[in-house]
Amino acid sequence: MTPPLIAPSILAADFANLQRDVEFLNQSEADWIHVDVMDGMFVPNISFGIPVCEAVNRHATKPLDVHLMIVQPERYIEAFAKAGAANPDRPGTITVHLEACTHLHRTLTQIRETGCRAGVALNPHSPVELLADVLDEMDQVLIMSVNPGFGGQSFIPHTLQKIRKLRQLLAGSGHTALIEVDGGVGNDNVAALVEAGADVLVAGSSVFKAAHPSEAIHQLKFFNPALRQA
Ligand code: DX5
Ligand code: ZN
Repeated sequence: MTPPLIAPSILAADFANLQRDVEFLNQSEADWIHVDVMDGMFVPNISFGIPVCEAVNRHATKPLDVHLMIVQPERYIEAFAKAGAANPDRPGTITVHLEACTHLHRTLTQIRETGCRAGVALNPHSPVELLADVLDEMDQVLIMSVNPGFGGQSFIPHTLQKIRKLRQLLAGSGHTALIEVDGGVGNDNVAALVEAGADVLVAGSSVFKAAHPSEAIHQLKFFNPALRQA
């Protein structure tokens, strides 16, 4: 089994020591750096925006995985691409929420034009079937396994069913988009998530609040399948 890609979320980092935490991720077994942008409109919380993404980009050596939890994300694609998501040395991803896009097809095309991979995020209530008509335009699907807005929430078990359905939808149509899972990911559900079909795991609290963050990343990536719990 191919180990999943691990994308620690800097939402759970120490913002007063962001350079230190980004440099830690550079040295770790993490694959991407997940950047959670919240606008206080699409989600109830405000996190950070373009200048912080730029600052992360200045120190990162791994691709940025930018998750836009904002309304009308098409207004900011170019800005986040320039702020590091489209860094030519390590092109990353910009993910927009299906629920926030009136013209999702156009927005995904716009993301790819910047040189980034294009992702679509689905809230827990949005069925995967809604993606059927943009399969050709997307490189990644982010399945939210909590309601977006805050780190440290409990994993919603129904997510496993959604991942399996999406895996079938992609396989049936010959698409190779990656499946990413975000929210409440940790040692207790990693095996079930990968078995269901997850390719990329976002982890905030389970990495940065761990006693040994580098060991936490290692445990997620090289999990023990015998520890599977549904
Ligand atoms: C939630 C964010 C997540 C969050 C994950 O809205 O999209 O990326 O930071 O944090 P944990 O892993 O703590 O659930
Ligand atoms: Zn996220």
